[in-house]
Amino acid sequence: MSNETAAPPSGNPPDRRRVVLTDGPALIEGPVDLVTREGTVLHCDRFQVALCLCKRSATYPLCDTSHRRRRRRTNESST
Ligand code: FES
Repeated sequence: MSNETAAPPSGNPPDRRRVVLTDGPALIEGPVDLVTREGTVLHCDRFQVALCLCKRSATYPLCDTSHRRRRRRTNESST
């Protein structure tokens, strides 16, 4: 993956297959260029790219598997 700032690519983007996993990332076919809100282009060479939907990833917008960590229960009963 490379990081650069550039204008979004012009023209019609190619069709891509997308799979959204429950409580997990969205998987899209790569290679792909992702353009962030700030205009930064992330070029991903992988054949499949996982986009973070939980916003817990340290590498957001890419998934780093942080979604797998479960929250600790805070309302355990004490008797
Ligand atoms: S979906 Fe995997 S870290 Fe957010």
